[in-house]
Amino acid sequence: MWPLSACLLLSAVGVGSAQLVFSVTDVVKRTDCNKTVILPCFVTNTKENNINVMFVTWKKEGKRIFSFDGEKKEFFRDPAFLSANLVSQVDLPKGVASLMLNNTEAQVGNYSCEVTESNREGETRVELQDHPVVSCGEEDTPTPKEKCGTWFVPVELAVIVVLVFLNISLYLAQFSLIALKYEIVSQKKMGIIIAAIIVLVVAVVGTVLFVQGGYSAQSQAGLGLIVVPAVILVLFQYLMFGIVFDSLSAATCALLCLQILGYIIAVVGFALCVSACPPSHGPVVIAALAIMAFANLLSLAYVFFMGSSTKDHPRPGKAVEEPLNELQSDVICEKYTVVDTQWP
Ligand SMILES: *[C@@H]1O[C@H](CO)[C@@H](O)[C@H](O)[C@H]1NC(C)=O
Ligand SMILES: *[C@@H]1O[C@H](CO)[C@@H](O)[C@H](O)[C@H]1NC(C)=O
Repeated sequence: MWPLSACLLLSAVGVGSAQLVFSVTDVVKRTDCNKTVILPCFVTNTKENNINVMFVTWKKEGKRIFSFDGEKKEFFRDPAFLSANLVSQVDLPKGVASLMLNNTEAQVGNYSCEVTESNREGETRVELQDHPVVSCGEEDTPTPKEKCGTWFVPVELAVIVVLVFLNISLYLAQFSLIALKYEIVSQKKMGIIIAAIIVLVVAVVGTVLFVQGGYSAQSQAGLGLIVVPAVILVLFQYLMFGIVFDSLSAATCALLCLQILGYIIAVVGFALCVSACPPSHGPVVIAALAIMAFANLLSLAYVFFMGSSTKDHPRPGKAVEEPLNELQSDVICEKYTVVDTQWP
């Protein structure tokens, strides 16, 4: 027996030609973890098994977004749906007219699939719906959509962004403190300021991309932009300790190590997050950024309290002229030569 829709179509078209029958799927759901979305369209009674007599048209709310002419092997794609393609051109003669789209291009809504095989034709509809990512709760739990639907859950997302800007602010606070208290070679100062602006701009761009959510290339690149360049901040820390202290003590080395450790964990966490959706390692990134922020805070305090005791010591600009034996005394955390070659 034919489905009701086919009967209705038959009467609507009013041509005596036989109709194609579809295996109907009313609704398909996608989450932000779907990189591609497949809109199903299966004809169950194709006869000719010949692609040359087939024609497929996909419409979204009545507007044609994609079509394929089997005879000419020609595609039409609406500019907003450039990723649209048949799931399998080879299987089209067998009735598989399903459409594949990038998740970013697939808007929710009602799509229709019209298939023609010689003089027989038919149409089926499928509704694409958004569905929260599974990490937001079980399938059946009524979770508000705005709480899910992203690669990271919004709380994680917000915490990551806040920690990143907290880190940058702490570095800038430390730099301001040092710039007020100590003489810094103006070239070096400009270098630090320009690098800080770059880090800030990159972090803002990264945040804008990251908060768009979804398991998309933009969102992943955004997370990369806010995590990876943090290495520049660690380098700043090294420079700033170099400005304040004559030689890097065990404490400053430990603070630097803590920041480097936090940075490495953050990069590893980023790599783990990029390879999974929903991301199961979001907390790793958060913990790593928190470690960095903690180390920053300690560094700021250290510079504030310990830095003043060495206030009257020679300025870094003059430090180069200091006796060689002092430079040789600390091999691991030796600073001046490195510092001065970094910012020529
Ligand atoms: C999204 O991905 C899930 C799991 O891989 C899959 O079952 C589902 O069909 C996909 N949704 C769409 C619309 O393609
Ligand atoms: C799609 O069609 C269904 C049934 O006709 C309707 O309930 C739904 O609101 C439509 N969705 C959109 C996004 O237009």
